[in-house]
Amino acid sequence: MDISVVGAGHVGLVTGACFADLGHQVVVVDNDAKRIANLQRGVMPYYEPGLEELVARGVRESRLSFTTSIREAVVKSTILFIAVGTPQKATGEADLTYVENVARSIAQHLPGYRLVVEKSTVPVQTGQWVHHTIKTYLKRKHPFDVASNPEFLREGTAIQDFMKPDRVVLGVETKRAADLLTKLYKPLGVPLVLTDIRSAELIKHASNSFLAMKISFINAVAQVCERSGADVQQVADGMGLDPRIGRSFLSAGVGWGGFCFPKDVEAFIKISEQLGYDFELLKAVRNINEQQKRGFAAKIQRALWVVKGKTIGVLGLAFKPNTDDMRYAPAIDIIEYLQGEGARIKAFDPQAMGEAKRLLPRVTLCQDPYEAARGADCLAVLTDWNEFKELDFRRLKKLLRQPLIVDGRNVYDPKRLEALGFRYIGVGRGRGETH
Ligand code: UDX
Repeated sequence: MDISVVGAGHVGLVTGACFADLGHQVVVVDNDAKRIANLQRGVMPYYEPGLEELVARGVRESRLSFTTSIREAVVKSTILFIAVGTPQKATGEADLTYVENVARSIAQHLPGYRLVVEKSTVPVQTGQWVHHTIKTYLKRKHPFDVASNPEFLREGTAIQDFMKPDRVVLGVETKRAADLLTKLYKPLGVPLVLTDIRSAELIKHASNSFLAMKISFINAVAQVCERSGADVQQVADGMGLDPRIGRSFLSAGVGWGGFCFPKDVEAFIKISEQLGYDFELLKAVRNINEQQKRGFAAKIQRALWVVKGKTIGVLGLAFKPNTDDMRYAPAIDIIEYLQGEGARIKAFDPQAMGEAKRLLPRVTLCQDPYEAARGADCLAVLTDWNEFKELDFRRLKKLLRQPLIVDGRNVYDPKRLEALGFRYIGVGRGRGETH
């Protein structure tokens, strides 16, 4: 099928490359000419495992092309995915400016029937606005449909999340739209949830908010563990064996970040308010997360007693492993808090050093974990990269000014590190330390 994806970001580029890999003819559009020129040269805008090879294959086999022209995309493709950013406004609401711009541009170039699909995460009722916008700006009275097809891609595993999703959610209003999207997604061989547009939009917001809630819940339980001497990892293991609960997204840490959870939770709170419902539960989920980040910085402060003039080695800056993405990364808040208290920060991250140079100019960026530890008064782990799991702890101990590790992602076994002579502080690890 002939498909276009507007927006070459974390969702759009993966979506386009994956559809091309499935044999479709795909045009990926972006209004950032530099990003498009780089993609045409095989240069990716961000790190995502496997993406570079997937894009190269699609381009080599002439199934994937890049352009800045929406007109070209609209003329060539029957199905048009809107996958542009929906960032958070200062008020917390989703900024739908880019979605509206794309809908208007599509309307102005519509040459015949087209199916316009919301791929971006949007608040419920956006679909009817997209429909209204296209209808308003149509140059000629051509038929069109709007549908919602929210993505459930996780950064770092986005390609497998596309190719092997738990389900594909399709919000449609006409049989023609249902048939087109069913034909497109049937080859994936996974359950297709056919519903109306509003329910599809809400499935996305509700799913992300539930996952964020699960993490905030275990982070709150970690607070109780710290005050009671229980170990939150053991608690999560015991809880997670109940299939109604499940072990995933039940790992306590410094809190959730990334470009999805923070903005989706906030947008869900806002759209609910606008619809007349005060989503108090979600506000608690957000507040627990803010406290978790602040509390972890305070935990480091208490461990050092005096922070001013101290050097803190940080392992991990990306908001999660296997990405270079630092948007809303807990590391940013935690580092800025410690710098505010007069600490000097040295940091290493396997992928996010480029982003860190831009976002954390006052941090000394190091080539590896040992460089970050050299001369530091403590080592703080903020992202659970695999690279950090089997470090040479004897070497670290020699490099550190004192053998103190504050583990924000519970990467290490407290007993193992204590046996090696470290003072270990984790999150909810039953050592009696409190935030
Ligand atoms: C999320 C959703 O998982 C995905 O379905 C949606 O499409 C986009 O948003 P993503 O933001 O890429 O994906 O990352 P995710 O793996 O969900 O992690 C989000 C944050 O939660 C990260 O900061 C991660 O470190 C944190 N996290 C995750 C925890 O703190 N504990 C956990 O147990 C799991």
